[in-house]
Amino acid sequence: MPGPGFFFFGDEERREVEDVLSSGYLSRYGSDDNPDFKQKVYTLEQEFAQLIGTRHAIAVNSGTSGLMAALIAIGLQPGDEVLVPGYTFIASMSAVIAVGGRPVLVEIDESLTMDPRDAEQKITPRTRVIMPVHMLGNPCDLQAILDLAHKYNLVVIEDCCQALGASYGGKRVGSYGALGVFSLNSYKVINAGDAGILVTGDSELYRRAFAFHDQGHLPLRKGVEIGNRTILGINMRMNELTGAFALAQLRKVERILAALREKKGLFKRLIQALDIRGLSFRRINDPLECATLLTVQFETEELADRVALALASKTVFYSGWHVYNNMEQLLEYQPWGGGRLYHKNMLPRTDSLLRRSINLSVGVLDPGLGSDFGISVLSSEDEIERKAEEFGRLVRPLMV
Ligand SMILES: Cc1ncc(COP(=O)(O)O)c(C=O)c1O
Repeated sequence: MPGPGFFFFGDEERREVEDVLSSGYLSRYGSDDNPDFKQKVYTLEQEFAQLIGTRHAIAVNSGTSGLMAALIAIGLQPGDEVLVPGYTFIASMSAVIAVGGRPVLVEIDESLTMDPRDAEQKITPRTRVIMPVHMLGNPCDLQAILDLAHKYNLVVIEDCCQALGASYGGKRVGSYGALGVFSLNSYKVINAGDAGILVTGDSELYRRAFAFHDQGHLPLRKGVEIGNRTILGINMRMNELTGAFALAQLRKVERILAALREKKGLFKRLIQALDIRGLSFRRINDPLECATLLTVQFETEELADRVALALASKTVFYSGWHVYNNMEQLLEYQPWGGGRLYHKNMLPRTDSLLRRSINLSVGVLDPGLGSDFGISVLSSEDEIERKAEEFGRLVRPLMV
């Protein structure tokens, strides 16, 4: 089942897309002096940058592309190391490998985001980038990550793919690092099928990231512009149909976030009121997180397993998608035949935390996250009350 944006599809998306269809201009580049050309991708970039509070935004065809463009923009060199948490989507690692870097896996903490203390342990002379992930909509311990980057002269690229609109310390995530990257795939806060957006406050990084995403061209080119191309790029451009759809979704983001936070708040209060011994909640680093999931944690793995079974769900450890231990394509990866870099159970604290955690859905009901049990962003108060009661009925007897 898709993420929250899906449930808010309506006439606005249809109108935006029809606007493009009737114009006939499907590429982000059209005839600027023809009023029929609606410049949806450009408008999306302007409004997105304004929302996040950065000077620039670049619309791309996926979050993965955005991460690759960000790494190229900072000048990542072959073999440079990038610190990445062990609990994230594979794209956080594969984007690094695709541009010649080496992901170094870091433990997570109780917030299920990168543990800054372990990140410090993993720094070597080859480390260039820290790439924290605001996992499941929860901002990472950003201040500690920024301090670390400052201390060791590293670049921070925020993987915000799961956290559009989340704030940390009064500012949106994505505005803290040198660059931030968002995904608009079907499971995300807003959804345009497949799409991504990169943001930065730095005009030189903007120029380089733009060039990489558009065959080396300078931003907002008119035509081919021979002689102006500064780096070798590829094509990661967003088209106007996607841009139009994304624009309609973006204009709903505050409504979507408000609904998520309200539903999660009620669901959490009701589960808290059940007063189940041994149950706690994942640490949330800022109350203005996205609230897409409610993660419950238990003191022992055995108890978490029994709860998961009772809920017909899984602990996060067994949920599939986002756990390094389940990424056979990463575990089998051997750069230039030089032997494996990663192996199962290499992050014992991450393993233990994920074995004791269960994701309950609020806005993303994705078996790949283990969130088979829970509510949806459209659930009524009655439905949320019933779900919390059901939770208590199933879980309480296991606590003796
Ligand atoms: C944390 C994280 N990083 C990167 C990505 C990649 O985004 P996309 O699927 O748009 O390429 C995702 C998408 O699921 C993600 O969750």
